[in-house]
Amino acid sequence: MQDLTPRPGDLEPIETASRDELAALQLERLQWTLRHAYDNVPHYRRAFDAAQVHPDDCKQLSDLSRFPFTSKQDLRDNYPFGMFAVPRQQVARLHASSGTTGRPTVVGYTARDITTWAHVVARSIRASGGRPGDKVHVAYGYGLFTGGLGAHYGAEALGCTVIPVSGGMTERQVMLIKDFEPDVIMVTPSYMLAIVDEMQRQGVDPSSTSLKVGIFGAEPWTDQMRHELESVLDMHAVDIYGLSEVMGPGVANECVESKDGLHVWEDHFYPEVVDPVTEEVLPEGQTGELVFTSLTKEAMPVIRYRTRDLTRLLPGTARTMRRMARVTGRSDDMIIVRGVNLFPTQIEELILRTPALSPHFQCVLTRDGRLDSLIVRVERRMGTDRPVADEAAGELARLVKNTIGVSVAVDVVEPAGIERSMGKMRRIVDNRDR
Ligand code: DLL
Repeated sequence: MQDLTPRPGDLEPIETASRDELAALQLERLQWTLRHAYDNVPHYRRAFDAAQVHPDDCKQLSDLSRFPFTSKQDLRDNYPFGMFAVPRQQVARLHASSGTTGRPTVVGYTARDITTWAHVVARSIRASGGRPGDKVHVAYGYGLFTGGLGAHYGAEALGCTVIPVSGGMTERQVMLIKDFEPDVIMVTPSYMLAIVDEMQRQGVDPSSTSLKVGIFGAEPWTDQMRHELESVLDMHAVDIYGLSEVMGPGVANECVESKDGLHVWEDHFYPEVVDPVTEEVLPEGQTGELVFTSLTKEAMPVIRYRTRDLTRLLPGTARTMRRMARVTGRSDDMIIVRGVNLFPTQIEELILRTPALSPHFQCVLTRDGRLDSLIVRVERRMGTDRPVADEAAGELARLVKNTIGVSVAVDVVEPAGIERSMGKMRRIVDNRDR
């Protein structure tokens, strides 16, 4: 793998500014945002009034904790445009997140918001090792989902040549990678695995492509998956995080030179981690629910938006800005089996420690009388014999029992036996109501 460490001159001054300088900028922007939301969004005026706080009460960053949270339900209740802080005519773009049930969550951007977003995605691509002039293959979906267009505008802003492939048509993805020779690919990690499979099916050695960096996000993945992708593709695998309510991709990104968690682009997004039950702000290092306040958004400012993503904040390393640890999962995706809480990422880690098993897996929940049970359905690795794979099933069940403390059944299926995602992979199949 190439050394892609940026030179000091490549970075924006704010990326290496002192904490004091950053905090001063954050406070000024936070005060503007609170005022903008209060003056222009009836929901925020009502919520602040009910909590007996006023934008003028924010004299220092820690005062933010006195302001009320915003939830996905608040966005739904104000569907479609009730959270906008500018006249609709000034909204240059809409996106929406699908959500499994009911109304989508709608978000809006002014022309300036689109520029800000492109700027933070450009910064994310650079942190990942991309450079102006690189060819960037975008395989995140284009459309209401923020992945495709978010990546696209960011790559353009950095001065790259964008290849807007979107998700799907996996055979063609492989052809375009062979023929256009991109330097960077932006895609969900689960769809990257599907592309790798297709390369192998076509007899293309995945480690022989032009790709130097993969910028993977939109779903949880693990360090074990990083090692898997880096070794099979011979490229850097870097984590990008974001959510539509806050902006889209590019809220936080890992740096290729350290790969030690994601630096939150704190000049635009102010992070807090709170205890999901008591709602108290937690100190650095403690795991809880990630909460974001936008600092520069015009069309749809968000105040203390509860992401439901679980992580912890850590001090900066490769940049001054604080890091968030990899998101292990959303509180919604937590599986409770016989009193034990677990996330699919924990299963992913253990599968990838079992050489005969492939990284394609799903967690299937069933109900046995009054008890829930979990079946880990996983493909055997191509080229592994059936008896070896069956032995690996026992080994995985033992690993899960010994490390997570829960008994699971392991069902090893044939290669390609599990549906491939073209975007976010559905890791949990809930058959409990059947
Ligand atoms: O997934 C935005 C995005 C697109 C991020 C492309 C990165 C790359 P939503 O569809 O609104 O937006 O989903 C946001 O996805 O709250 C997390 O639960 C999850 N998520 C996003 N990135 C990561 C990541 C986009 N790197 C939700 N690791 C978030 C873990 C992630 N989970």
